[in-house]
Amino acid sequence: MSKYLIAGNWKMNTNLDDAKRISNVLHSYKNFDSEVEMLICPPFTHLNFMSELLDMSRISLGAQNVYSETEGAYTGEISNDMLVSVGCEYVIIGHSERRIIFSENNELINKKVTNSLKAGLRVILCIGETMQEREEGRTNSILGSQLDDCLNKVEFNIENLKVAYEPVWAIGTGKTATNEQISDTHDFISDYLKKRYENSHIKILYGGSMNSTNAKEILSIENVNGGLIGGASLNPESFLEIYNSAIELI
Ligand code: PGA
Repeated sequence: MSKYLIAGNWKMNTNLDDAKRISNVLHSYKNFDSEVEMLICPPFTHLNFMSELLDMSRISLGAQNVYSETEGAYTGEISNDMLVSVGCEYVIIGHSERRIIFSENNELINKKVTNSLKAGLRVILCIGETMQEREEGRTNSILGSQLDDCLNKVEFNIENLKVAYEPVWAIGTGKTATNEQISDTHDFISDYLKKRYENSHIKILYGGSMNSTNAKEILSIENVNGGLIGGASLNPESFLEIYNSAIELI
């Protein structure tokens, strides 16, 4: 198992030409290290061609969302099986943008996590508190209940589970959590996961305005096992600098 996972979440950005341009830069990168896994999560429409273009032994491919049902009359939705069939290995579930904009609740997220793990996908479950919840001193109780509910009855394929801590107020805002906030919160999540899944080594990623300037410091914090990077992952040079920061910490 690699030491770090550096994941790019392109969100609803890039057309096919942009995706080809970024993929070509990543593809020609020479300094891959098996201790640092690189993951790209482009929009659904790019998954198929990217799985053909990228050297998947070096760069993993993930989706940003999936539906909870296996097949049927769900216009506009994408199933686990469809993702697997185009070479997708990972899926991000429960991103705060899905929770807030698309009203996804913990119950739906739990269903998605369950079915994606059953389908053999690796799941990045996102959790995080709002600024108001943090100011009210409720961060750990919110994260604890998100973990309780989203992982309800999830007791299998745990080796394929990762958790991303993404404070809602730090996403796309340029406001990163302080090192102390990240450290305290990752320790809390790590304790929770160790208690819940004995002897498991579930990676905990930090997400929220991570960039090439702050990545090394954040990744050096104990219990930070990688990053989920939005904005900075759209610039392949910046993303590779973040990837390199992880290599420097090995
Ligand atoms: P950001 O996004 O790096 O642009 O803050 C992170 C995320 O939403 O995963």
